Amino acid sequence: MNIVVVGAQWGDEGKGKVIDVLSEDADILIRFQGGHNAGHTVVADGEEFIFHLIPSGLLHKGKVGLIGNGVVIDPEALLEEMGRLASRGVDVQRCVKISDQAHVIFPYHKRLDLVEEATRPGRLGTTGRGIGPCYVDKSARSGIRMADLCNRETFAEKLRQNVIEKNRWLKALYNEPPCSYEELLERYSGYAKRLAPHVVNGTRFLRAAMQQGKRLLFEGAQGTLLDVDHGTYPYVTSSSATAGGACTGAGIPPTRIDRVIGIVKAYTTRVGEGPFPTEFPSALMDVIRAKGKEFGATTGRPRRCGWFDAVIARHAVWVNGCDSIAVTKLDVLDEMETIQVCVGYHDPSASKAAGGAGGTGAIDEFPSDTSVLARCQPVYESLPGWRQDTSEVGRFEELPEAAKRYLKRLEVLLGVSICLISTGSKREQAFKVGSIGSAA
Ligand code: IMP
Repeated sequence: MNIVVVGAQWGDEGKGKVIDVLSEDADILIRFQGGHNAGHTVVADGEEFIFHLIPSGLLHKGKVGLIGNGVVIDPEALLEEMGRLASRGVDVQRCVKISDQAHVIFPYHKRLDLVEEATRPGRLGTTGRGIGPCYVDKSARSGIRMADLCNRETFAEKLRQNVIEKNRWLKALYNEPPCSYEELLERYSGYAKRLAPHVVNGTRFLRAAMQQGKRLLFEGAQGTLLDVDHGTYPYVTSSSATAGGACTGAGIPPTRIDRVIGIVKAYTTRVGEGPFPTEFPSALMDVIRAKGKEFGATTGRPRRCGWFDAVIARHAVWVNGCDSIAVTKLDVLDEMETIQVCVGYHDPSASKAAGGAGGTGAIDEFPSDTSVLARCQPVYESLPGWRQDTSEVGRFEELPEAAKRYLKRLEVLLGVSICLISTGSKREQAFKVGSIGSAA
C-alpha cells in the first residue's frame, strides 16, 4: 500500500504528527517537494522534534527516508538536521537517502529571496529561505542538482556560471555586493563530501523498493492552497504541494498510488500574506493562537487563524483526489460555545454588478482568481460547541455528541470520510476511525 499525505489547507495542518502515526505501517518515507521552508513537528516520548527536510517518520526505528527529486535542498540545513536526528539515536548514515536529481539551494538564492521580497510591490511573506529562486533556476534549466554537486568538475563549472549570473542580477537590480565563487566552491565541496554517501538515483531506489513489496508513504509539505498551480497564486510557495506532485517529485507512476489522505485542522490557519476569508477578528485570533500554539515551526511567525473553510477544503479534496481526511487539533475548539463553518462565499461585487438581474453573488466553488477570493465574504453555518475536554479521548464513540456532529458535518460538506482524528500534540493523542487502507 502506497499512501500520499497532503495538506488540504494553507499548510501547518499537523502533517508531521499524522505522518508520524501512519509511519508505523510504512517502510519508506518520502518528501517530494518544498524545502526547509517546511516545519513538521513531532512530539515523541515527551520530546519535540521539528523536521524541515527529512521525512518526519524517521523517529520510528528501521525506517528509511528519501528526499525526492522535487525537493530543493539547502545542504547546510540538511546536515544540521541530520546531526540533530543522530543525537536522538537515529542511524542517519543508514536511513537518509537523497535523490541525485534534487536541486541545491545556495546563499545567492536566499539573498535574492530576501531582496525580491523587500522590493516587491505586494509582499508574499516568504520564509526567506531561497526556495522560490531555487525553483526559478530549476525551471530556467540553470540549477545545480545533487548529482552535479557531487561531481567536482561539473560543479565547479556550473557554480562559476551561476555566480557570474547572480552577481550581475544582485548588482544591476538591487545594488547588492557580489557572492564569492571561491568561498562557495570550497564550502559546498565540503558539503558534497559529507552528503555524497546518501545520494541515490531516487526513481530507481523507489522502483526497487516497490518490487520488494515495501510500503511507501509520501509526505507532502505546505498545503494545497500554497500549491504553485492550485493555490491562492501568487500567495503560494513555488512547488507542487498537491498529490500529483508526489509522482513528479519522487519519480513514481500515478498508477502506483493507492491512497491519498488530506490533512485538515479543525479550523484554518495561514502564515504569510494573501486572502483568507474566514480569518478571525483579533480577540478570537488571540484565544485560538494561544490555545493552538499557532506560531510557525520554521520562522516562529504568528499564524493567522480562522474558522474551518469548507470551500477551500472541498477544492483540496478534489484536486488531490483524497480518499479520506485526517482532522487535527480538534481539542483547540474544546471551549468554544458556538463553532462556525464556512459553507460558501458571498461576492458583493458580483451581486452589485448583476443589479438585481438574478445574480446573487453566491459562490460555493473555490475561485481560481485570487482577486475574487480576496473580496469574498464567508457564509457561515453555526454549530453548537461541546465545551468538554477531548484531549484524552481515544475513540470516536467517546467524543462529546456535539464534536461528533461537527466532524460528521465536515464529512458531508467535503464528501469524504474521516480516517484519523488528533486531539493533542503527543503521539498517543490520535486515533484512527475505521481502516485507513479501506477508507473511501
Ligand atoms: P516560500 O515557500 O518561502 O517561498 O513562501 C511562500 C509562502 O508559503 C509564504 O506565505 C509562506 O509563509 C508559505 N509557506 C512556506 N512554507 C510553509 C509551511 O511549511 N507552512 C506554512 N506556510 C508556508
